[in-house]
Amino acid sequence: MDEVIRVKLHSDVVLVRQVGEYIINSGGKRLRPALVILSAGVFGYTGKYHHNLAAIIEFIHTATLLHDDVVDASELRRSKATANALFGNAASVLVGDFLYSRAFQMMVEVNNMRIMQVLADATNTIAEGEVLQLLNCRNPDVKEENYLQVIQYKTAKLFEAATRLGAILCSVTPAEEESMAAYGMHLGTAFQLTDDMLDYSGDYHDTGKNLGDDLAEGKPTLPLIYAMKTGSEEQATIVRNAIKQGGEGDLQAVLDVIQKTDALDYTRQKAEAESSMASAAISSFPNSNYKECLLQLATFAVARNY
Ligand code: IPE
Ligand code: IPE
Ligand code: MG
Ligand code: MG
Repeated sequence: MDEVIRVKLHSDVVLVRQVGEYIINSGGKRLRPALVILSAGVFGYTGKYHHNLAAIIEFIHTATLLHDDVVDASELRRSKATANALFGNAASVLVGDFLYSRAFQMMVEVNNMRIMQVLADATNTIAEGEVLQLLNCRNPDVKEENYLQVIQYKTAKLFEAATRLGAILCSVTPAEEESMAAYGMHLGTAFQLTDDMLDYSGDYHDTGKNLGDDLAEGKPTLPLIYAMKTGSEEQATIVRNAIKQGGEGDLQAVLDVIQKTDALDYTRQKAEAESSMASAAISSFPNSNYKECLLQLATFAVARNY
């Protein structure tokens, strides 16, 4: 997959190569492409397209990160300066567009309408999720179900596409495809719930990202929604005002409310429930190293600190 990425990252335009190689070579967990390869492995795939599809998924993911860091005004990603901090917003947006469109060129090479459909739908849904989240920003009245929709759209949908593609490659039954897709959707939801927890409890040495970014943007994530719902009137007001104002001024006071209301424990429980549903979705598949890895990833998605 890395070999495919290396070849397909090529462009005659120097800045495209610079920015593209900068973010791709910064690493990242390569979780989504692993899902393509592992889910195809579960069904005994022996063909040659899984590496291409894995690279396509990682390109789409990387494009969303380039755009996301501009939108979020983030300065740290993968323990390095973000591309927008280093090359500017314009370069990040445009190279993100390059990666999206390169991914679509690569899909055409695979020449499978069903695969095109899954990837086109996922990419479109991610964009909707990001816009929906933009509308929710600085709004303290966002409910848990609205929040869940945002994270399913912006994050879990790509996880779902990754595992669904593995199944489609193997021409499995519709029921098997849906089970594999459900695994991806639940895993992605658990993954983003954990990410939103880590934004308040992680260590930037581990996550490679700045903490407190979510509050700075006035993003109503689950720890805050729960803290407002269960805290005293005074505690709820602290969080409400911090969401409305954005900025990092109130981080310490908000962290205090989060701690006193056990909001991170609640978020972790939700993430663990999603992780269990992910594992349950693939429980009937025959045992193999591939399946074992998928089960381990379900554990990792919630236990991770990076
Ligand atoms: C970051 O995803 C974006 C989220 C959905 C939280 P990852 O944490 O998978 O990013 P990398 O690729 O490992 O850097
Ligand atoms: C992750 O967004 C989802 C996408 C990139 C589409 P976030 O803004 O929540 O993730 P981080 O914390 O920047 O990785
Ligand atoms: Mg972000
Ligand atoms: Mg974001």
